[in-house]
Amino acid sequence: MPNAYISGTGGYVPDRVVTNDDLANDYGIETSHEWIVQRTGIEARRFAPEGVCSADLAVPAAEQAIANAGLDKTDIDMIVFATLSPKHAFPGDGVYLQEKLGLCEVGRFVPAMDVRNQCSGFLYGLAAASSMVQSTMVKNVLLVGGETHSAALDLSTRGRTVASLFGDGAGAVVVSATEEDRGVRGWYLGADGRFADKLCQKVWDMTQRPFIPPAGADTDGAGQVEPELMWAHMEGRYVFKNAVERMVQSLVSACWDQGIDLKDVDLFAFHQANMRINQMVAQTMGIPDDKLIHNIHKYGNTTAATIPLLLAEAEQTGRLTRGMKVACVAFGSGFTWGTAIVDW
Ligand code: UT7
Repeated sequence: MPNAYISGTGGYVPDRVVTNDDLANDYGIETSHEWIVQRTGIEARRFAPEGVCSADLAVPAAEQAIANAGLDKTDIDMIVFATLSPKHAFPGDGVYLQEKLGLCEVGRFVPAMDVRNQCSGFLYGLAAASSMVQSTMVKNVLLVGGETHSAALDLSTRGRTVASLFGDGAGAVVVSATEEDRGVRGWYLGADGRFADKLCQKVWDMTQRPFIPPAGADTDGAGQVEPELMWAHMEGRYVFKNAVERMVQSLVSACWDQGIDLKDVDLFAFHQANMRINQMVAQTMGIPDDKLIHNIHKYGNTTAATIPLLLAEAEQTGRLTRGMKVACVAFGSGFTWGTAIVDW
């Protein structure tokens, strides 16, 4: 059985920087830079322009990852796209990315799969991609996390708790087969559907007729959606507490499964939902600051894109180099969570 390793990384964020002050001044949200920084560590995020979707953001990230892997896009055997902000209800963004990369125009119709595991999407995708590579059915999987949150944020005081957290971006890796002694050593995934409603966006509901219930009894339903369906709902404190617990537990479980000590890990790429969550996990586990990488201060929470963006930037800056042992850890809506241990 070959090993599955990350042969290339790439990342892309849209140009427009939206600071905390911009949320207050440009959108009129009753908030402050101090409140957001103190509670979350977020200083700014990126917003994509209207007309741009997650698959568009994924194109430059994917091209960079493929080039860094020393491959051509025609070497890609499979696309896995993790997102909670696809362009449409269906199809998923995987096929849009495939078409944008021109992978249906080269005589090969590269299969494209979508992963719906929100902030844990990249790790669920990595588990799928590495398993496919190890099965020998494919050699190179393009795994992307891409998000366009800005289109679906309630950018008003009513929505400030959620709206101040999220940003747009895409990260990509190529997962490739190798006979070398390196790669994805193992992954530990978990989910608890009892808490599905604690963090969700129910913009439609297939149990209802019509499936998008009209906002008012006197409307015909067109273009009207109740705010509580339209915008994401989050029980922030409950999510925070569970995030810390599950990230700690999955990291311990993954290390136990691998027979390694936490001290053997050189670099920790934690999901970027809240700097305080990551600090609490690190404190609980006794992880020193210099082993953690962050991007939440400049990008906010980019859900499925956070970990591949972190990996891409760490490689570019020389922070992540061949031979390092990396632990990627995430928690998010579902609830879903996971840890992957990777020998770079
Ligand atoms: O990717 C995984 C998913 N997400 C997470 O992991 C997020 C987990 N949760 C959190 O990070 C935190 O719960 C938040 C940062 C979202 C919120 O922090 P908090 O300390 O739990 O605040 P809170 O929701 O209890 O709100 C406290 C107050 C409220 O005002 P009142 O009711 O006390 O008057 C909020 O309305 O802060 C208010 N508030 C804000 N004030 C200024 C909420 N958001 C804002 C804001 N600016 N952006």
